[in-house]
Amino acid sequence: MSSSPILRLAPSILSADFSRLGEEVRAIEAAGCDLVHFDVMDNHYVPNLTIGPLVCEAIRPHVSIPIDVHLMVEPVDAIIPLFAKAGANIITFHPEASKHVDRSLSMIRELGCKAGLVLNPATPLSVLDYVMDKLDMVLLMSVNPGFGGQKFIPSTLDKLRLVRARIDAHVAAGGQPIWLEVDGGVKTDNIRDIAQAGADTFVAGSAVFGAPDADGGYKTVMQSLRSAALSA
Ligand code: DX5
Ligand code: ZN
Repeated sequence: MSSSPILRLAPSILSADFSRLGEEVRAIEAAGCDLVHFDVMDNHYVPNLTIGPLVCEAIRPHVSIPIDVHLMVEPVDAIIPLFAKAGANIITFHPEASKHVDRSLSMIRELGCKAGLVLNPATPLSVLDYVMDKLDMVLLMSVNPGFGGQKFIPSTLDKLRLVRARIDAHVAAGGQPIWLEVDGGVKTDNIRDIAQAGADTFVAGSAVFGAPDADGGYKTVMQSLRSAALSA
């Protein structure tokens, strides 16, 4: 069982209908999600191109829950203030994409947002070694970043257990809480194992937006994700 009973669902709007984005984010909030996961891709750090601060600013008035901005861009420092100004609440980035990771993390917090690092499937945990006190979130990628709808990489479960142990030791030693988020291929049939391995925050894109909302589909998926995770 995870040492944290908290569970947050963060639908990734990458799989939403972009022509009706305001409506889509209102629908997922009404369906009971906890965060809006906002994937920013630059066709440089990752081979895809998505949305930026203008879109964040446009959806901000449509929801009251936090916006969780996942930066897949390189470099990161110039874009951080633009997202803080656009109403982001959490900003995470990949350490490979910043020349000065400690500085980027500090900048995010100074702008009033929660800060986090994103670890790709092949990124070692040593990137966390000297910045634990500057983190509000660790995001483990369970797919290679760049696209929605990929398959969950099973070795993420072992990595999750190791990060959970690090976070628990940090908190036990008097450190601040750090959320542990998983991103990629999260579905109703694997979320229980992911929760059991120690995640407390779950990104789900295609699993949520693949269900048509017309007949309350988002709410049904959100409830099945939540109950499956809670059964861990
Ligand atoms: C991938 C993105 C994910 C993606 C998840 O680079 O960071 O947030 O949208 O989509 P699913 O849940 O479909 O794997
Ligand atoms: Zn993401």
